Amino acid sequence: MSETMSSGHGPAGSPPVTEQVVGQLQGADTRLMTIMESLIRHLHGFVEDVRPTAAEWEAGLAFLARTGSFCTPTRQEFVLLSDMLGLTTLVDDVNNQGPADMTPSSVEGPFHSVAPPRELGDLIAAGPEWGRAESAVIRGTVQDCHGNRLPGAILDVWQADDKGHYDTQDAEQPEGNLRGLFTTDENGEYWFRTVKPASYPVPMDGPAGDMLRAMGRHPMRPGHLHIRVEAAGHHTLTTHVFVNDDPYLDSDAAFAVKPEIIVNFEPCEDQASIERYGMDGPYLDVTFDIRLATESEMKR
Ligand code: BEZ
Ligand code: FE
Repeated sequence: MSETMSSGHGPAGSPPVTEQVVGQLQGADTRLMTIMESLIRHLHGFVEDVRPTAAEWEAGLAFLARTGSFCTPTRQEFVLLSDMLGLTTLVDDVNNQGPADMTPSSVEGPFHSVAPPRELGDLIAAGPEWGRAESAVIRGTVQDCHGNRLPGAILDVWQADDKGHYDTQDAEQPEGNLRGLFTTDENGEYWFRTVKPASYPVPMDGPAGDMLRAMGRHPMRPGHLHIRVEAAGHHTLTTHVFVNDDPYLDSDAAFAVKPEIIVNFEPCEDQASIERYGMDGPYLDVTFDIRLATESEMKR
């Protein structure tokens, strides 16, 4: 019996079939061969570890087939699966490591769409949520990692309302509601008015939902705003602003929470501030300073 056909484990402790499959990788794309070798070794290692029955393996393949059949241009069930297994966050982290002072990146999620350009101070809540939900002023600076302010930075903001719905999911909200493109002023400052976002569940009517239920997990994401920040010469940052008193901060279904992006929604009743920011009455004051890295400061 040849070395590769023996029934024992190979020199690296892997079964012969693993070495046979890896040994047949001959594509010209070396990066792809690296990815495939690692994938094969990890999948074979998983089988060795779990020792699935034939029925379990078939059930796993059927689950993946069902996940594929759920995908449409507007419903990406494989992305949701990746999100719910923490893989999207892991890929995001691998690709967005910068200096210690950089605002951490956090996953984009499925609800980004083209936002209307806005003026600083604009109210982005023009649907039924305004007057019903707690109002908020979101403000801060965009800086580099050395404390230099960045005028002209573009902030793309999107969020759900106080019922956890984005405009694209809710016929009662006007198009572009709770979204906006803002440009920082000459001091690198931004501000806008909105409502406090609520926590919401990810879609549970497909295989990803079945998986969460089977694992005994809840589907909730803590209340948050999404912000993408672009500034000339800097690495574009996509991140979240999480509401500090949300009950799901410790168990986000998408694993996107990081301590630096949990932000106080601080009640403010000060009349001068209410007038200064053009609010109707008491509101939640939110300060979120953003620090960007240059491309050369990013680690790869
Ligand atoms: C969201 O931000 O809405 C989201 C992010 C990741 C997975 C699912 C939803
Ligand atoms: Fe979201």
